[in-house]
Amino acid sequence: MWSRNISITNGELHLSGISATKLAKDFGTPAFFIDEADFRERAIGWNNALRDEFGSHAGTVYYAAKAFISVAVAQWIKDCGIGIDVCTGGELAVALAGGIDPAKIEVHGNNKSLTEIDKAVSVGVKTIVMDSLHEIDRVAAMARKHNKVQGVMLRLTPGIQAHTHESISTAHEDVKFGFSIASGAAWAAVEAVLAHPELELRGFHSHIGSQIFGTESFQLAADRLISLLAKYRDVYGKELPELDLGGGYGIAYLPDDETLEPGEVMPALRSAVTAACEKHKLNIPMISIEPGRAIVGPTTFTLYEVGTTKDVVLEDGATRRYISVDGGMSDNIRPSLYDAQYHAVIAQRASTAKSISSRVVGKHCETGDIVIRDISLPADIAPGDLIAIPATGAYGRSMASNYNHVPRPPVIAVNNGKARVIVRRENEADLLALDVKE
Ligand code: LLP
Repeated sequence: MWSRNISITNGELHLSGISATKLAKDFGTPAFFIDEADFRERAIGWNNALRDEFGSHAGTVYYAAKAFISVAVAQWIKDCGIGIDVCTGGELAVALAGGIDPAKIEVHGNNKSLTEIDKAVSVGVKTIVMDSLHEIDRVAAMARKHNKVQGVMLRLTPGIQAHTHESISTAHEDVKFGFSIASGAAWAAVEAVLAHPELELRGFHSHIGSQIFGTESFQLAADRLISLLAKYRDVYGKELPELDLGGGYGIAYLPDDETLEPGEVMPALRSAVTAACEKHKLNIPMISIEPGRAIVGPTTFTLYEVGTTKDVVLEDGATRRYISVDGGMSDNIRPSLYDAQYHAVIAQRASTAKSISSRVVGKHCETGDIVIRDISLPADIAPGDLIAIPATGAYGRSMASNYNHVPRPPVIAVNNGKARVIVRRENEADLLALDVKE
């Protein structure tokens, strides 16, 4: 749940030795604090695990930028020697601004604009992952315009119902992503790519969903994609070099949650890939993966300040304490969108008070603006207390909004006992900057 350099001294939370009180005083609340060393270790950990298992067949770890990206994070990715998966022109711009080599960039998206395709092809990204027949023609035309041969992969739908929230499950049939293997759409897409000499088909991709536990669904996806690689070999007499098995590895949000560790995922993928390749007498392709949440999720916590509390008597006579913090659904939409659950602690002091049934809510004008629906917190919690929520690094700041014209919080990187702003706090001038006055 917490990043590696979190400690508790005298009841107070510290990141890399800096107390929550000092972090709040220096940077304000709400704010995201990211443990830089932990981020780097996780990125390197996934890369090492891929290399340890697949050896010369290890492809690339593409960090999924949608989980959270900033120029500083892109620089860390570059330092760690891994690649990046971007799914919009905006994410591509940040990756390039962070100095990531286009040869380590993979471009996703089910509706890439012509401008986005133009930019990706002209800077020379390694792979564009194709998601529709329209796009195959568009990328080919753009490659022709730039007089290039563009590396592409096909995003396939292996027809798997991954066990996660419906909104973040992506590989069953009735979904907007990918070409279905079962319906024959995937094979038609193979033929469509081959009809364009400006495109080099590098292999197949699947991403079965997010926040997934257990390795069976990943293994099944690998097996189905490899069957299609075998069909390709049978029909065309040559093998495609790469298989990208996406991301989606689950992390812990609550104290009793599990985490899907690299040391569990990689051996499972290797055994599934090896078995399927042996079955089809195929060489093992280069294996790539795209973890986002598993790298950045646990590195970050959100720090809020309590503004008000209110005790509400419920129908059964029990009391629920509503604890309002200075952020909410604009910096963490996940509870409203996916019923996501989070944990919280009072960050700046110990408490021996008995616990009380509580609900942590935000400051927005909306009943559903809930940070934590049910949690026991010390009964002496009061305005001015700091509350830390762990594991908010993935899809927190990256999905933040300005709902109710609330400025989005900053992101502060903490490393070796020093803290620095990597994304500054928005202010009212930022909020007004887009308005056009008559
Ligand atoms: N690769 C592709 C093609 C993806 O679409 C995604 C996530 C990933 C990799 C990274 O997945 P991860 O390892 O982070 O689970 N907003 C949702 C998650 C949406 C994920 C979309 N695609 C959430 O807050 O849970």
